[in-house]
Amino acid sequence: MNKRIEVIKRCALEAGEILKYYYSNDLNVRFKGKIDMVTDADTSSQERIIDIIKSEFPDDEIIAEESSKNTLNLKSTWIIDPLDGTTNFVHRLPWFAISIAYLHNGDIKLGLIYIPILNELFFAIKGEGAFLNEKRISVSEENCLEKCLVGTGFPYSIHENYEEIVTRFKKVLINVRGIRRPGAAAQDLAYVACGRFDAFYEDGLKPWDVAAGILLVNEAGGKVTDYKGEEYKIGQSNQILASNLLLHEKIKELISL
Ligand code: IPD
Ligand code: CA
Ligand code: CA
Repeated sequence: MNKRIEVIKRCALEAGEILKYYYSNDLNVRFKGKIDMVTDADTSSQERIIDIIKSEFPDDEIIAEESSKNTLNLKSTWIIDPLDGTTNFVHRLPWFAISIAYLHNGDIKLGLIYIPILNELFFAIKGEGAFLNEKRISVSEENCLEKCLVGTGFPYSIHENYEEIVTRFKKVLINVRGIRRPGAAAQDLAYVACGRFDAFYEDGLKPWDVAAGILLVNEAGGKVTDYKGEEYKIGQSNQILASNLLLHEKIKELISL
């Protein structure tokens, strides 16, 4: 696993340099959907990460957001979001991340979320804990709804089906200290892991948005399920709730309609 740890960190740092370059230079923006964008930064970051992994582990599977074929064969697999928070990036907001997870036989073994502009590297190893810039992190100890800060986000398909999402949002909003929608799901999960957020929930996230963050939250002492409290299954579950464990049931009650 040591070689994979070295490689995952190298991927993040090199991709981070690419994102930093594009962040302060011209961007070519294309649309994948009505409000879903992709830029040169997404594709260049992804190409660099894939090149590094392929050169070190040619037989591993790679699932990456901007690839056309993404089959979930979990034997020895990397799951990559080369730029999480593309909308922020296009609007020159600094909240964007690179998210990389390594899975063996379906089990997430390594999870890394790097926020290059803020120089924050979140990293977790299965069974060995979660870290921010090499210092151990843990979830918050808050168990009172009125004192908690909750992160959330909205899928790109929000226009097609917003009623339930708005109802949930309203219920949470009037029961907690505050809600934030930073715009990068991987970062949101990392923020639960380090205790900045007490909980996070969102509909419609993809494997590359959540794979690394799930391990971070679990290794930091938190809990990740779907909105019903059932096990969150990567590639199958459509709704994610991550929390500091203490608040899990209370938030689950609020978001179950
Ligand atoms: C998006 C971000 C956003 C979330 C969206 C994701 P992208 O990822 O994580 O916070 O609300 O659902 O798709 O497209 O910027 O990689
Ligand atoms: Ca994403
Ligand atoms: Ca992305």
